[in-house]
Order: sequence, then structure tokens, then C-alpha cells
Amino acid sequence: MPFLSRVSLPLIQDGSYLQNIPSLNHGLQLSLTSNVTFFVGENGSGKSTLLEGIAEQCGFSLRGGNRNHNLNTGYRFEGYESPLAKHISLIWSSRRINEGFFMRAESFFNFATYIDELIAEADIRDKKRILDAYGGRSPHEQSHGESFLSLFNNQFDNGIYILDEPEAALSPARILAFMSVIHELDKSGRAQFIIATHSPMLLCYPGATIYQFDDNGMGETSYEETEHFTLTKSFLNNPGAYLRHLTDH
Ligand SMILES: Nc1ncnc2c1ncn2[C@@H]1O[C@H](COP(=O)(O)OP(=O)(O)OP(=O)(O)O)[C@@H](O)[C@H]1O
Ligand SMILES: [Mg+2]
Repeated sequence: MPFLSRVSLPLIQDGSYLQNIPSLNHGLQLSLTSNVTFFVGENGSGKSTLLEGIAEQCGFSLRGGNRNHNLNTGYRFEGYESPLAKHISLIWSSRRINEGFFMRAESFFNFATYIDELIAEADIRDKKRILDAYGGRSPHEQSHGESFLSLFNNQFDNGIYILDEPEAALSPARILAFMSVIHELDKSGRAQFIIATHSPMLLCYPGATIYQFDDNGMGETSYEETEHFTLTKSFLNNPGAYLRHLTDH
């Protein structure tokens, strides 16, 4: 049973760009019925906008991190606010969860710089505690994919994990390793994941709920029905056919 069970949005008429996002502007009643939920859809369809709104409502800093990072006001108040958050209502299954992490691949570099600043300011004991949370080395001293996976392996345990394109830095083998982290926490019943992704591999995670964002709003789908899966599969079956088509002009 997921901690967060429902996300609601009313019809938005606030005059902002939110009104122009078709997947979100009709209002929304989103049921989260499994521990792993994916948001999938075309670029610009509104996935990050909704994730940010949910993350802000959960109390996470929009620059990424857990709730403690949000308590550091210098980190939080730098113009990073979700215009959608004030419209969103969250319904929790039993109790509101404070633990977890908001991670977006897009700004992970800035997050890693922030972690380095924390390390520089910390005393020896705290330094070790912070480094241990990233596998013993600053995220900047690891490759892009290594730093993602060390975050998943060392920080993810008990809580709600809101992730925007976590696959961005991962090789196919590391995507499988990441799926095994998800599986362990999913089965433990201690974690819930809400993930925006373009990865056809990740979408195949067994038992996940997949919401497709498009011009008609948001609807539940299966991984086999997503364009990410069908187009990638068809392309890889015969790359030459697609590439001939692209270059035959
Ligand atoms: N600050 C802003 N001002 C105006 N429009 C914005 C702003 N931020 C986002 N948008 C628009 O909102 C829409 C949804 O953007 P969003 O980032 O949520 O898409 P997405 O589904 O996450 O796309 P992607 O797969 O490329 O990450 C886009 O059309 C984008 O141009
Ligand atoms: Mg996005």
C-alpha cells in the first residue's frame, strides 16, 4: 500500500502557462495504487511540472534533496518554487511521510555542488556522515552514472522518492541495477517511487502503474502500449529501415 494514495488538481484558471498544459489543465484525480508509479509522455507534456508540484507539497527542496536540505533556508529560497504546488492536494494512506528524496537528473550537478559546500563547512564527524550518504566520495568525484547509483544505493531506504528521469546517466546495465534497488525497497513496503521517465527498460518494471500524459489529460496505460516501448522496440528490430527513411531526401 503506497504512502501517498491520491493527487488531486482542480481546473486551473490562474492565467499562467499551466493553463496551456493539456495533461494538467482539466483537473486531475490521480490514484496511486502501487509502490511504483511512472509518468510517461512526450517532451513538454507536463511530467516535471507535476512532479515538482508533488515534491514541493511533500516538503522537499525543488533543487533536489531530502527534507533536511529544505530546512537549510539558504538552499531553498532561490526562486525555485512550483507554480502548480498551491493547486495540488495530496491524500496520504495512513500518515504523512516526511522521509524521502526529490531528485532531478537535470540539476544533479548543482545538487552535487551544494553537497560539496556542506562537506566543506562540516566538522570531521559530519563530513564522514555526509560522504557516507554518497558512498564515501563526493558526487563530483564520481562519474555521472556512478554518482546517481551511489545516491540510490546509499540514501534510498524509507520514504517517498520522487525522481525526474533517473535513467539519464545510467548505462543499460546500471538501469537494471537501479531496478533491483527499486525492487528491494518496493518489496520491503517502506518506500514509494514516483518517477518521470523516458526509459523503455524502466517502464517494464513489474507491477508498476504507468500514467501517460497527453493532449487528452492523463490516463493509465501498460508499458507495451507506450510509444517509448513500441518505437524503441521497432527501431532496434530494424534500425536500417528507420535510418533509410530519415536520410532518403
Ligand atoms: N517557467 C515556464 N514558463 C512558461 N512555460 C513553461 C515554464 N516551465 C515549463 N513550461 C512549459 O510547460 C510545459 C511542460 O513542461 P515540463 O517540463 O513539465 O515537461 P516534461 O513533460 O517534463 O518534458 P520533458 O520530457 O522534456 O522533461 C512545456 O510546454 C514547457 O514549455
Ligand atoms: Mg521533464
